[in-house]
Amino acid sequence: MKTSVEYIALEDKHGAHNYHPLPVVLAKGEGVFVWDVEGKKYYDFLSSYSAVNQGHCHPKIVNALKEQADILTLTSRAFYNDTLGDYEKYITDYFGFDKVLPMNTGAEAVETALKLCRKWAYQKKGLTPDSAKIIVCDGNFHGRTTTIISFSNDSDARAEFGPYTPGFINISYNDLDALEEALKDETIAGFMLEPIQGEAGVFVPDEGYLKSAYELCKQANVLFIADEVQTGIARTGKLLAVDHEDVKPDILILGKAISGGVFPVSAVLADDDIMMCIRPGEHGSTFGGNPLANKVAIAALEVVKDENLSENAERLGITLRGELANFENDMITLVRGKGLLNAIVIKPKEGKEAWDVCLKLRDNGLLAKPTHGDIIRFAPPLVITEEQLMECISIIKKTILSF
Ligand SMILES: Cc1ncc(COP(=O)(O)O)c(C=O)c1O
Repeated sequence: MKTSVEYIALEDKHGAHNYHPLPVVLAKGEGVFVWDVEGKKYYDFLSSYSAVNQGHCHPKIVNALKEQADILTLTSRAFYNDTLGDYEKYITDYFGFDKVLPMNTGAEAVETALKLCRKWAYQKKGLTPDSAKIIVCDGNFHGRTTTIISFSNDSDARAEFGPYTPGFINISYNDLDALEEALKDETIAGFMLEPIQGEAGVFVPDEGYLKSAYELCKQANVLFIADEVQTGIARTGKLLAVDHEDVKPDILILGKAISGGVFPVSAVLADDDIMMCIRPGEHGSTFGGNPLANKVAIAALEVVKDENLSENAERLGITLRGELANFENDMITLVRGKGLLNAIVIKPKEGKEAWDVCLKLRDNGLLAKPTHGDIIRFAPPLVITEEQLMECISIIKKTILSF
């Protein structure tokens, strides 16, 4: 077995440098814990960007994968398979939509939603060819494809990848006036947003924003598209973050925790009026709807209900934010979030920044990662117990006080 230093050197030499990982090399995971190659145990406070809501290597999900792996793994959609229909019925009942379009990654699901929205605009709304526009929000993160980064404001994500895909209008997040103004354009087909902006640093919009934004879209005959790739599947204390405001999106985008982090699975859900705008040959993916994914996703969604993960996230999120908000120190300037999707904002002290805090947290047995400089996201697996959370809170406090 190599050492951490050797594994890092190996990646550095042979892998593209498109990430800047925290220096820790993980070799094992179980529930809320991960272990590095030297055997040190950590609490995982990132949950693979909220993909591992059900905890690492959940036995029920892993067994679903193992069992199906011996039977049938991939048929492509050239043929039917005996798992897809059951999965489609299960997930559409689960979220209350007529139909699902299965894909693999979050970015693919976002692309699918954008294409579906444009199709609907031409077929149902009657827009003239190539005129449809989609409103998006500043600070968004929807993935890494060329079209998606075309409407990103993050220069690292966007610069020098042009030419960019046209047809998107950026407005500020959590700004209903800006949305109302943008909706005056009659060529608008959709409004896509994250119900809480995750990558941007866990920005929670004002209460009522989602509901009002949805209503403005309805008045303008514009599709409300919720990207719940990060916020969905119990993370924010409800099954979906839009559930906090009783909004049913016209198009729902899911990924990450839909498989509990066991396998890349994503999905786009919509009712017939929208979904039936796409016909054979117009969209797809070789791996989308494969038998492994179908079995894994059913198991992962069952775990969310069986283990009351929404309720756990809601309850423990309140504890986490309460403890951190009452903690007297001069480095944490803000605590925000919903359920177990949270962030703290760090004020640098004597040259020590969020990155240094994360290195110290690691040394103290808790893994978290800065997002956008001074923000640290705290998003443990939703299977965490109150006792474990209290231990994590004391690790965080001890770490901050050591600066
Ligand atoms: C809201 C949101 N949408 C889409 C994506 C892209 O997902 P993927 O990395 O699986 O392509 C992410 C990933 O972090 C996300 O947070």
